Amino acid sequence: MNARLKSDIHDQQLLVIDFGSQYTQLIARRVREVGVYCEILPFDHPPERLAERARRARGIVLSGGPESVTLGSSPRIPANLLEPDRPVLGICYGMQAMAAQLGGAVGSSERREFGHADIEVANGSRLLSALEFDPGNRLPVWMSHGDKVTAAPPGFSVTASTDSAPIAAMEHDTRPWFGLQFHPEVTHTRQGEEIYRRFARDVCDCEGLWTPGNIVADAIKSARRQVGDGKVVLGLSGGVDSSVVAALLSRAVGEQLTCVFVDNGLLRKNEREEVEAAFAPSNALNLNLVTVDARAEFYGKLAGISEPEAKRKVIGNTFIDVFEREAKKIEGASWLAQGTIYPDVIESAASAYGKAHVIKSHHNVGGLPERMSFKLIEPLRELFKDEVRKIGMHLGLPRELVYRHPFPGPGLGVRVLGEIKPRYCGILREADAIFIEELRNAGYYDRVSQAFAVFMPVKSVGVVGDARRYEPVIALRAVETVDFMTARWAHLPYALIERVSNRIVNEIAAVSRVVYDVSSKPPATIEWE
Ligand code: XMP
Repeated sequence: MNARLKSDIHDQQLLVIDFGSQYTQLIARRVREVGVYCEILPFDHPPERLAERARRARGIVLSGGPESVTLGSSPRIPANLLEPDRPVLGICYGMQAMAAQLGGAVGSSERREFGHADIEVANGSRLLSALEFDPGNRLPVWMSHGDKVTAAPPGFSVTASTDSAPIAAMEHDTRPWFGLQFHPEVTHTRQGEEIYRRFARDVCDCEGLWTPGNIVADAIKSARRQVGDGKVVLGLSGGVDSSVVAALLSRAVGEQLTCVFVDNGLLRKNEREEVEAAFAPSNALNLNLVTVDARAEFYGKLAGISEPEAKRKVIGNTFIDVFEREAKKIEGASWLAQGTIYPDVIESAASAYGKAHVIKSHHNVGGLPERMSFKLIEPLRELFKDEVRKIGMHLGLPRELVYRHPFPGPGLGVRVLGEIKPRYCGILREADAIFIEELRNAGYYDRVSQAFAVFMPVKSVGVVGDARRYEPVIALRAVETVDFMTARWAHLPYALIERVSNRIVNEIAAVSRVVYDVSSKPPATIEWE
């Protein structure tokens, strides 16, 4: 085993204090990309807990935020975080808060500065001087701010400026304290990653222990410690998160793990076969896989129900019934594994301290741990989605599975509009498979965030050959998004849409017509139900 593991990969960590910026999670991901573990806590986390967590960290990053430090009521850096020897990097609002609290000055600008800017970097900056510049020590960066620092606090020097922000960066002359008005976490800032590397690795003196190999080894070690010789049950959906949990736990506890895969009749074409192949014993995965054919049960319970929320409830509850029944057959199972990831943990932590956040309800886990008195094991709860994917690849899962588009828990249940019938699901499966195949062939699958077909139970008239066709309609949906909260409909080439449309109508006799969804979110949601 790697000797490095003797030192815990969490020993060298940074703490990101969140002032509410839309980029806070991006900051944490950038820090981790340079090999350093970090956690996010809100600025108003209870001060004594915050101080305790800060003591464990080798450095602190203060995020941006929507507020103005010029207002007395705006968030402040908790006093006990700023210690002379503790490295601090303030970004945007974080820098302004440092300036305001350390004796400098912050002013409100007439107008927001948003977008590209060129900073000119002064010689001698410990954070910025080693970067590669354009002529004139200039560097393109991404700005997004209203206020700006108008006077650096005592002990600080100005290390970069732009025409509109004369103090675009500052650093303390003797202490490891830095402020940046721009956003190095945004890819438009050239060498932003290098700035985080210099701060996390050099200034904070972290070695770069946070690598996929070390994360996997650490997760295996702690899963073994947690579970001992207990038995674990996992609901395997075929999605990225549960698949990575399965691969990880199979390495950690082998046959003590049983994965339950429920075929609810609402899966995509060949999905069951693909999951069974990915987790077959021949792939050196030492786990027990139980596939439950519950199609009839789901279709039976869904018959006659067409209201979307009612359908979701039935699907969720039926899943719990089926899963519970199967789990009870696994003698001595006391652990339930879940694919909770770090953004879910951040949301729950924020809501635990009274911030308004909507928590997504994961249909496949609701209520189970309490109902069956399971203990929970959540091996991914420290990881961002991109890290989950990286360790999925490291664990040898197929790329198609690791980089698959998200698929909702209720599956085709929310893509067959109205009442769900097995025949409708069959038609949709074929149409969806054609769409995805053509997207892949054209190199567009990885360029859109999510794409799928929708079955519309309205009939339209068509002519195929000499014959009249009076059949349902298929809608195609493809979106581009970063966070799935907002999304733009994907501007796919007409030729590609045309090919998909021709194939669907030619190959599926039960479809009369194909339409392309040109609604963005908002106002439309990504799924149709
Ligand atoms: P909407 O339709 O709300 O979808 O714009 C946003 C993202 O969430 C997915 N989605 C779900 N995922 N259970 C899930 O696990 C659900 O019930 C569910 N509903 C929507 C959707 O596919 C998209 O990626």
